[in-house]
Amino acid sequence: MKKHLIAPSVLAANFLELGQEINMVNESSADWFHLDVMDGQFVPNISYGMPIIKHIKRLAKKPLDVHLMIESPEKYLSTFRECGADVITVHMEACTHLHRTIQQIKETGAKAGVALNPHTPVSTLENVIEDLDLVLIMSVNPGFGGQKFIYNTLNKIRAAKEMITVRNAKAVIEVDGGIGLQNAEKVLQAGADVLVAGSSVFKAENPSKAIEALKAVGTDIGKLA
Ligand code: DX5
Ligand code: ZN
Repeated sequence: MKKHLIAPSVLAANFLELGQEINMVNESSADWFHLDVMDGQFVPNISYGMPIIKHIKRLAKKPLDVHLMIESPEKYLSTFRECGADVITVHMEACTHLHRTIQQIKETGAKAGVALNPHTPVSTLENVIEDLDLVLIMSVNPGFGGQKFIYNTLNKIRAAKEMITVRNAKAVIEVDGGIGLQNAEKVLQAGADVLVAGSSVFKAENPSKAIEALKAVGTDIGKLA
């Protein structure tokens, strides 16, 4: 079985000790840094933006997975790329000309992702699925860390997996919101390739061990943990 990736969400980190938090992820078994950008328009919260991402890039030894929860993301794609984004994900609900926006992400040299809010059906991806490197299925309503996982997400992951398989597309499936050891196995069994985890990593007593445990889910070592 293909091994899944873990993308700790820096939103839940201690920003007073950001350097240490980044180094912890660098030295852990995590695969990517998940960076949540919120504009107070597309979602009812404001997080952080370009200057923080630029600083994280200087320390990070793993790819930056930038999740844009913003209106008009097409205006900022090249800037986020210059700040160090390796994957840029925009929301389906924020893009009137989604096909064009996906091409623009690719032109920057970044991998292109599209995120779906909990109410947005997977079928809306039908005409772009072959163009995507990543599909991000939100398992909470975007805007805040620490929310409860919405179980209907499992059906959406299965539907996305089915679409990708049938169409022989290359996109990986990332799932974001409310993920921890209590549900990671179900999410992976449904077809997820990348697990985002904020609170369950950074609020854990031992974040590095929490990452390791998530990474081990589905293996014999995971069963012993
Ligand atoms: C929510 C963000 C998530 C969030 C996940 O809007 O997109 O990436 O940081 O945090 P947890 O894992 O705490 O739900
Ligand atoms: Zn996110």
